[in-house]
Amino acid sequence: MKKNKKQSSYFNIENKINFDNTIIEASLKAKKAIESGVQNVYNATIGSLMDEKNNFFVFKSVFDLYNKKISDQIKASYCPNIDGGIDFSNVTKKWLFKDNIFLIENSLVCASPGGSGSLSSVIKKVLDENTVVLIPDYTWEPIELMCNQSKVKIINFKMFNDNNMFYLDDLLNKIDYLTQKYKKIALYLNDPIHNPTSFSMSNYHWKQIVLKLNSYLNNEFVIINDVAYIEFSLDSDNTYLKEFKNIKNNSLIVFCISYSKSLTFYGLRLGATVVYHNDKNVVKNIHDLLVVHARANWSNSNHGAIETVVELDKKNDTYLIEKQNMISTLKKRFDNFKNESKKIGLDFLETSIGFFITIPLNENIINKYIEILNNKNVFVVPLKNGIRVGVCSLNIQQCKKLPNILKTALMEVKENER
Ligand SMILES: Cc1ncc(COP(=O)(O)O)c(C=O)c1O
Repeated sequence: MKKNKKQSSYFNIENKINFDNTIIEASLKAKKAIESGVQNVYNATIGSLMDEKNNFFVFKSVFDLYNKKISDQIKASYCPNIDGGIDFSNVTKKWLFKDNIFLIENSLVCASPGGSGSLSSVIKKVLDENTVVLIPDYTWEPIELMCNQSKVKIINFKMFNDNNMFYLDDLLNKIDYLTQKYKKIALYLNDPIHNPTSFSMSNYHWKQIVLKLNSYLNNEFVIINDVAYIEFSLDSDNTYLKEFKNIKNNSLIVFCISYSKSLTFYGLRLGATVVYHNDKNVVKNIHDLLVVHARANWSNSNHGAIETVVELDKKNDTYLIEKQNMISTLKKRFDNFKNESKKIGLDFLETSIGFFITIPLNENIINKYIEILNNKNVFVVPLKNGIRVGVCSLNIQQCKKLPNILKTALMEVKENER
C-alpha cells in the first residue's frame, strides 16, 4: 500500500449525500394533513391514478388476472430469461408499435425493474461520458439524477415559449448548436404526456426532429423516448411512430416502457427497453449490452408481472374498457380545471390530457407559494421553475374548485412580494 496517497474510507461520514426527494416530501405533508383529520385535503402530489373517491386506482382486469390466473409457482420463481423471454418481447412490441412492421422487425426487448430500471440502464450503458443529453427544462427530475450518476452531461432546451406553448425551435436550435461541439448527442423526450406538463408532441414535431437528425450524418444520435404514460395518450394508435420510418443510420432509438404506469402495478416493478435501429446487428449489440447489464445489476425481472403482461394480451377487452373509462375521467377532470382556469385567468403550460398540470413560476416565489397552498390544505409538487398539480390524483369536483384556490394563493404571494 502506498503511504502518502490519501485513502478513501467506507466509513467517511463527512461526505454527506444530498438527495432531494421533493415528490415524496410533498406527499408526506399531504398524508400527515389527512391523517390528522383535516377535511377537504387536495393531495395533488401523487403521480399515480386515484379514483373519484381519492382512493388508489387499480385496473381490476389486471389484478384479477394476476391474482387468479398467475400461479404462486410463477410468482415465486425466477423468470427463465433475463430479457423477459420471447412472448414478453412480442407482446411488448405489439402494444407499443401497433402496425409499424419496420419497428417490430428491427427491434429487440429487454425487461427491467420499472421504467426507472430501463432509463437508468440506457443512460449507463448506451450513453457515455462523451455524450451530451438534451433534456427539456421541465422534466421528470430523476432523469437528471441518473445522468449525473453516469457522468453524462446535460443541456436543457426551453420547452415552452413566452406564450406557454411548445417551443420546437429551441429544441431544433439546440441540436444545431450541439452538433458543432459534440459528436454523440442524446435526446430525452418523455412523449406522449410529458411529466410534469402532460404535453404531447404532434407528429409534425417528431417529423422535424427526424429531419434535423438526418441532416447531421457525421454525428451520432440516441433518441431516448420515455413512453411511461403512452397507454393514456389520446393518440391511441401511437401514430407518431410512423415518423421514424425515414430515420437514418446515424440515429438509434430506445423506447423506455413503464408497465408500472400502463397497468397500475407500480410496486411490482416492471418495465422494458425496446431498442430500434436500421441495422439489426446494432440492435443485437445494444440488446446484449442491456442483458449483461441486467444480469450484473438486478438479474431477472418480476416473473409474475411478466406473465401478467403476456396473459393480458390474450384477453384484453376488459382492460381496454377500464382504461378508456379512466381516460374519459381524466378528460373530465382536465376540462373542469381548464374551464375554471380560463374564467379566472390562471395560466398553465400547454398540455394534452392534463394528467399533470404545470404552473410556471419564478423560482424565488415557489417556496412561499407552496407554504400558502399548504395552509389552504392544497399539496402540490414544487419544481425548479413552477409547480406540478397531479390532476390524476384529484376527483372531478376538486378539479373544478382547485383553480380558484391556486389563483387566490398566487395573488397572495404577489401581494406579499410588494
Ligand atoms: C416520466 C417518467 N418516466 C419514468 C418513470 C418511471 O416509472 P417506474 O415506476 O416504472 O419506474 C416515471 C415514474 O414516475 C415517470 O414519471
